[in-house]
Amino acid sequence: MNPALSNPFRPGAGHMPPYLAGRVAEAKEWGRLVRQDVILENLVLTGLRGTGKTVLLDTFKPVATGANWLWIGTDLSESSSLSEEHVVLRLLTDMAVVTAGFQVAEKERRAIGFGASTTKIPVRLDFETLDALYRGTPGLVSDKLRRVLEIAWAAIQARGIHGVVFAYDEAQNLADHAARQQYPLSLLLDVFQSIQKKEIPFMLALAGLPTLFPGLVQARTFSERMFRVVFLDRLTETESRDAIIKPIAAAGCPVKLNHRAVKQIIALSGGYPYFIQFVCREVYDAFLQGQRSIPVVEITRKLDSDFFAGRWARATDRQRDLLTVIAGLDSAGTEFTVQKIAAKSAQVGGKVFSPSHVNQMLAALAGNGLLYKNRHGKYCFAVPMFEKFIARQSGGAGSAGATPRRR
Ligand SMILES: Nc1ncnc2c1ncn2[C@@H]1O[C@H](COP(=O)(O)OP(=O)(O)OP(=O)(O)O)[C@@H](O)[C@H]1O
Ligand SMILES: [Mg+2]
Repeated sequence: MNPALSNPFRPGAGHMPPYLAGRVAEAKEWGRLVRQDVILENLVLTGLRGTGKTVLLDTFKPVATGANWLWIGTDLSESSSLSEEHVVLRLLTDMAVVTAGFQVAEKERRAIGFGASTTKIPVRLDFETLDALYRGTPGLVSDKLRRVLEIAWAAIQARGIHGVVFAYDEAQNLADHAARQQYPLSLLLDVFQSIQKKEIPFMLALAGLPTLFPGLVQARTFSERMFRVVFLDRLTETESRDAIIKPIAAAGCPVKLNHRAVKQIIALSGGYPYFIQFVCREVYDAFLQGQRSIPVVEITRKLDSDFFAGRWARATDRQRDLLTVIAGLDSAGTEFTVQKIAAKSAQVGGKVFSPSHVNQMLAALAGNGLLYKNRHGKYCFAVPMFEKFIARQSGGAGSAGATPRRR
């Protein structure tokens, strides 16, 4: 296809947008963190689904490597957080990726047979060596892990490197499992806190949903002081405009959006990065095919089926009734309390939910990722603009259109 006609927008998990709008303060914050010699603050990068955590973390990597840090990074799957051994395996595997080339000693190897001679072979800090060091160290899992990391740092430091960033995405998956007596999250926090106290510059950069930070604090209260929390909000109106217009201008393409069309896209997307990419992709194709106005109804319907419907399907009928009550609250788009929901349910005339019932149901909804409890103990939707989708399901006033944030 003619490159000028190919659609530049990228609605997708972790896909770098054609233009990364805003996030200037957040990038500055990262610049500050990588200037630390002794690590006093680690990073938590958090926000609702699709606000751009993964792509922003990707842009932090060259900043760190440019400042002479090594970067270790992966997604934390739920399985890597099942047990302490899993976390150890994760850390050693990731560490080995950057240290495998480092020679730390030589060992003698005796050839087999008559008149055998010995040859010297290099010992490198690859996974085998790290794992042998780990297993050969007596003590608790945390003692063993700490020792391996200390040895690795000695080898890294000798090469004039500033420090190592351990960047883990989807870090909300990390959790302790008291029932199984497995504390992988506490292990990670304990070990990093103690090596950082010894002035070893290994920094954690954890990205994840808003449940991440409360989870860290619940495991270890010192996490409050150990992390700098950067919360990714939706984009401001000006930033949203840049995200929409700049890729089109850059592509030198035949699609032209007037002021009104841009405003409509901002309203439809609410300034949420994923929604901006999604809506722009649709609008771009529609305009290329000769349409001159934004097909609001069709795009909203597509967004509902592609993005929201799967999440809605996770709720039971009873839960949907409760979610519909919540969506009717004035504060549904921000935060809400058990009392407010219970009061609203009595007021709207349908099924009445008692406060204790609401409490139980909110916990279940949080468990399947539709809601989360914020730092003030109030609940919020974990999915952006979910309240508008719910209102659309019940034929309410939640048709497309949201007021973007102003700064
Ligand atoms: N600053 C931005 N400007 C424009 N588009 C952006 C921006 N940040 C992210 N996007 C786009 O938003 C979408 C979501 O980004 P990303 O996958 O990084 O979000 P996320 O917060 O990691 O989501 P999840 O919570 O699902 O992991 C992608 O399509 C990406 O291209
Ligand atoms: Mg992500």
